[in-house]
Amino acid sequence: MSDLTLSKRAQSIGDSATLKINALARALKKEGKPLIHLGGGEPVFPAPQAAVEAIVEKAQSRRIKYTPSSGTPELKEAVIKYTLENYGKKVAPENIIISAGAKQALFNFLLAAVEEGDEVIFPAPYWVSYPEMVKMAGATPVIVRPEQGSLQVSFEQIESAVTDKTKAILLNSPNNPSGLIFDAAFVKAVVQLAEKKNIFLLMDDIYHKLVFDGKSCPNPYDYSTNGQNLVIANGVSKLYGLTGLRIGWAVSENKSLISAMGRMQAQSTSCNSDLSEVAAAAALSGDQSCIKDLCSLLQSNRNVLLAELAQIPHLKIHQPQGTFYSFADFSYYNPDSQALAQYLLEKALVAVVPGVAFGLDGYLRISFCASQDSIVEGVRRIKQALENLSLKED
Ligand SMILES: Cc1ncc(COP(=O)(O)O)c(C=O)c1O
Repeated sequence: MSDLTLSKRAQSIGDSATLKINALARALKKEGKPLIHLGGGEPVFPAPQAAVEAIVEKAQSRRIKYTPSSGTPELKEAVIKYTLENYGKKVAPENIIISAGAKQALFNFLLAAVEEGDEVIFPAPYWVSYPEMVKMAGATPVIVRPEQGSLQVSFEQIESAVTDKTKAILLNSPNNPSGLIFDAAFVKAVVQLAEKKNIFLLMDDIYHKLVFDGKSCPNPYDYSTNGQNLVIANGVSKLYGLTGLRIGWAVSENKSLISAMGRMQAQSTSCNSDLSEVAAAAALSGDQSCIKDLCSLLQSNRNVLLAELAQIPHLKIHQPQGTFYSFADFSYYNPDSQALAQYLLEKALVAVVPGVAFGLDGYLRISFCASQDSIVEGVRRIKQALENLSLKED
């Protein structure tokens, strides 16, 4: 019998480096190893009470059915309110698609917007899934890398990457993995560039409210003339620690884009989970003090992490302005971040994510969404393991 071959697409798509680390961390913990997981991408906070009650009530109704494909009216209403409060923009239900996480919203966008041969531009460091998702949609990822030592590209670098094949620009701010926010001048220039060149700009705003030191993210709608090129993706995963609900959304004034994204979703997953949609609506409509509490906790975790990392010589660190990730340059110890992360996992039992997965080798992404005790102990172990490494080389 001849071998069954898989699609070229399947052969060209890699694993998610972050999900792989999570699986490895889970396996080591299961074996009873005292692993410290600083590679994670979800806040430890428990789910908001309102979300839990909504799920229980819905489950007890014994009516768990298909929902409208692009999202329930109640959840869309909550997203309309969210968009008005956070972006000053009044949108209609037809401007919204609710998906299985921001991730599916992004993927629906790519399926609806890009063609074979199109190019999609995004800056490095980037979220691990962007290149693979762009490839799955048949387009070519065009990665714009910052100057050596910097973690942010300039507008001019983005501008000069645009060709007549460019279909979209993806921006994520605050950024996973750097924690940095693109400033207003940059966002304004990219919004205007997208309009001038008639290309889409997708803002992945999944962390836009997880910001520190009184900072806020520039609002792209402030610079857009008609909103037709602009798409904003977001969700409840990071904001409320509700990663397991799998609810995100995309908002755009471009109704034909949203409708096309809806067709992609209707023909793939039909609709979202009924239980998850009621829970997400309840979280968005309930007490929002949990977001402020989460930001204060994360800011304090960040400060603990930075203070601990400062004890390790030869690192180059940029202070995160948001998210729950730091992206420090460890290249003095090993420019091969994959090998260094593997070494730290084996010798220090600390899980971190290699920078190469985010497009910049030599860096490690260290999350600060774990407990402060784990952060302190994790960095202590990393320091010790790096000292051992230096001793070996002396
Ligand atoms: C930049 C970025 N975008 C999107 C997502 C996906 O979020 P969701 O859980 O809503 O699919 C993540 C999750 O890690 C992320 O870091």
